[in-house]
Amino acid sequence: MTPSEGTSTVDKTTPPKIDPEHFRRLGHELVDLVSDYLAGIRERPVFRPMKPAERETLIQEVLGETGAHPETIVERFRTAVLPHAMGNGHPRFFGWVNSPPAPIGVLADLLAAAMNPSCAGGDHAAIYVERAAVRWLTEVISFPTEGTMGLLVSGGSVANLIGLAAARHWAAAQDGWSVRGEGLQCGRLPLVLYMSEEGHSCIQRAAELLGLGSGAVHSVPVDERFRMDVLALRAAIAADRASGRRPFCVAASAGTVGTGAIDPLAELADLCATERLWLHVDGAYGAIAAAVPTRRARYSGLEHADSVALDPHKWLSVPVECGCVLVRDGQLLRDAFSLVPPYLRTEPDRGFGGLPWFSEYGVQQTRGFRALKLWMTLQHLGRDGVRGLVGRHIALAQHLAGLVDAAPDLERLAPVELSIVCFRYAPAHLRADDEDLNALNKRVMEEVQASGAAFLTQTTLRGRFALRACILHYATTKADVAALVDVVRETGARLVVEPRKD
Ligand SMILES: Cc1ncc(COP(=O)(O)O)c(C=O)c1O
Repeated sequence: MTPSEGTSTVDKTTPPKIDPEHFRRLGHELVDLVSDYLAGIRERPVFRPMKPAERETLIQEVLGETGAHPETIVERFRTAVLPHAMGNGHPRFFGWVNSPPAPIGVLADLLAAAMNPSCAGGDHAAIYVERAAVRWLTEVISFPTEGTMGLLVSGGSVANLIGLAAARHWAAAQDGWSVRGEGLQCGRLPLVLYMSEEGHSCIQRAAELLGLGSGAVHSVPVDERFRMDVLALRAAIAADRASGRRPFCVAASAGTVGTGAIDPLAELADLCATERLWLHVDGAYGAIAAAVPTRRARYSGLEHADSVALDPHKWLSVPVECGCVLVRDGQLLRDAFSLVPPYLRTEPDRGFGGLPWFSEYGVQQTRGFRALKLWMTLQHLGRDGVRGLVGRHIALAQHLAGLVDAAPDLERLAPVELSIVCFRYAPAHLRADDEDLNALNKRVMEEVQASGAAFLTQTTLRGRFALRACILHYATTKADVAALVDVVRETGARLVVEPRKD
């Protein structure tokens, strides 16, 4: 008998229904599975490459005509999916900007899915949870709350896109036209935005999506600390104006993805005020460190930004996906996006009305209950917990930098601003040859990744291949960063003497 026949004494239901007692039992088993998984992560390899057959089995799996039993499906998950995690749950994972999930956020996702509201708007609790969680985030980074509108989005890329869309709308309005009405097809002066050479690629993608073209992104050189060079920016703005272009926005970084550099926000805010440009700050990785008193001075000027992109699914460990955009002039953001078809019209405080709808401030109509995992994670941490978590990671990065500096065969390639350390394996006799070192370090990274002992990724700094370790795990210790250094040095020493296989 199959579950879809509906006469089973176990299910008494037709999929997707699950009998409440069965659901409870299954749920308890899953909580046990998740608890064991989370508790045992440290004992397992950080990452385990999948065998070709394992990949194929998953890709080619055939969907049955009749529904499967929930137990069978969970068992399949346990054996075929769970053992092949990306690795970012492990305390020795230092790759990209991917944190482990905060345990309370894992549970929050279950609760959010059980309620399953659309957070487009309306008078229901999820909406007010999002309002509160976004305000907490705004307060934690000391950004002004009065008049600011913020909303949760999928991640930093979309947060940057929304911020820049608001900037584009503002610039057109300043010049007396409507980008929403005209689009970009009516022969207006070409808009230009500025970001540093170290700015994130999603800014360029946003410029492309907004119809500005990648040519609208003026890449500004960086100083010796990988921060935007303000003198070079001034010169670029003047040159662009002289050649008939319309500078409209500076997209600064508060924590670049490569090295964690924080652009000189106060100087940029002054410059934007003088030049009448929109200041957007990409703080997807680093804005949250504004909460840490010892780092606060570096974020001076952030409070003058017109828009900020944050990513609670990075440093705050809110399970993906959870990004956030803040726009200082909330009404302007609404003007840039609001389009309410008749079937969605409501009035405040009448029927389902509630506050102005989130869907009027962004691109999504139906919106998930992302806010719950942020709301719960922030409450679990408290303001002090946020400062403690981020501050601890910065201290660990400095410790790692110290180990790198003390090792004769390692070379650090960038200052440590936040929780990223960039370095390379560079024994003295190879230091003169960047090309050889680039190839060698790429192999070091790949072998360390495949080893399962630790995981780090890469960036390129001034043409040099850098091993890049980003510390974001709440359970990472000094012993973990020491283990990373050991495995890099051992791998490097072995590869220097081993002939290349490819
Ligand atoms: C500085 C910065 N900006 C933007 C992004 C893009 O964020 P997401 O991957 O959440 O879309 C990242 C991702 O690493 C980042 O580090």
